[in-house]
Amino acid sequence: MAREQISKIAYKTLQQGKSIAGLAHKELSTRIMNFMLPDNKLGDFNIDKKLLIDIQNSMDFLREEDWNDAEKNIYPKKLLFDEPWLRYLTQYPKIWLDMPNTWDRRRKQNYQDLPNNIDNENYPKYYLRNFHHQTDGYLSDFSASIYDLQVEILFNGSADSMRRRIIKPLKEGLHNFSNRKKSSLKILDVATGSGRTLKQLRGAFPKENIIGLDLSGSYLKEASRFISNLEGDLIELVKGNAEELPFGDNSHQAISCVYLFHELPRTVREKVLKEFFRVLEPGGVLVIADSIQENDSPDFIQIMENFHKSFHEPFYCDYIKEDINSKMEQIGFNNIKTKSFFMTKVWSAVK
Ligand SMILES: C[S@@+](CC[C@H](N)C(=O)[O-])C[C@H]1O[C@@H](n2cnc3c(N)ncnc32)[C@H](O)[C@@H]1O
Repeated sequence: MAREQISKIAYKTLQQGKSIAGLAHKELSTRIMNFMLPDNKLGDFNIDKKLLIDIQNSMDFLREEDWNDAEKNIYPKKLLFDEPWLRYLTQYPKIWLDMPNTWDRRRKQNYQDLPNNIDNENYPKYYLRNFHHQTDGYLSDFSASIYDLQVEILFNGSADSMRRRIIKPLKEGLHNFSNRKKSSLKILDVATGSGRTLKQLRGAFPKENIIGLDLSGSYLKEASRFISNLEGDLIELVKGNAEELPFGDNSHQAISCVYLFHELPRTVREKVLKEFFRVLEPGGVLVIADSIQENDSPDFIQIMENFHKSFHEPFYCDYIKEDINSKMEQIGFNNIKTKSFFMTKVWSAVK
């Protein structure tokens, strides 16, 4: 019991430490940017006391939920302490060195600053841009090499705790196939990025087949390095477009998708949902995690507006207003549930 208490304190201290580090980085980098490029000044973002308390409460709720799910063995507790410190150490100086390029892009509103060697025809138009003003968009090894830590900083160290919120609904959904061998079940993670979600999934699903799909070859290479020494069967990585998944009808029992939808135009979101429906076997489960939305997180509208203003996220404003539940229902999904945790909303639905 005492041991449990100590590890819970250790977990919360780790999370608080990461949160302070993330906030300190953001404060420092904004000050330096405002000093060096006064004309680039972001609108003042004054967090009032009530908002601060709401943020703190929702982070506490997220940590409590994360801890409790691990206590219930929904995933192993070691995932809560699994931080790639060495990787962060190599990524952090690169983030600082690259920052002036990001500021410059923001100042010039230059969102098409992409590597010359890419073949535009291989990518949808909405994808060919510098999301978050990031260097090379999603289209270079350099971008892939610093992405993880950037997200970690953006979410004040809570990114993986939020990604882990997909695990419980995935497990609940897979109960529909509990009469089958686990090794016959297929879990597809769409827009898998540099592999963080895959690592959480492998921890929770040691025997199932896990497949990660992304449109970026560079991000898949980074994912491959990140997951190469995980225990369990090899995770398959596939380069492909979520709009036209390279899989047969009814071929997968679960699909997850983390932080993709806010970066898609509305018509593409619908197309992707239809693809998910096609590829899932009847009874299969879809779990999406993405930004919170206006209707169920009205207290955080100020944060959502600030996110949209500070980062290049052209589809975000529309995303936070869309009624995705109705769209899922129209497409044929059942048993649609949603729940929000800090900055992330999770949908689960059954085909
Ligand atoms: C914000 S990142 C999220 C990555 C990851 N899921 C995570 O949790 O960090 C968005 C990812 O979606 C991928 N992506 C965007 N549009 C896509 C599409 N149409 N098909 C497949 N992947 C796509 C990008 O390459 C990028 O890796």
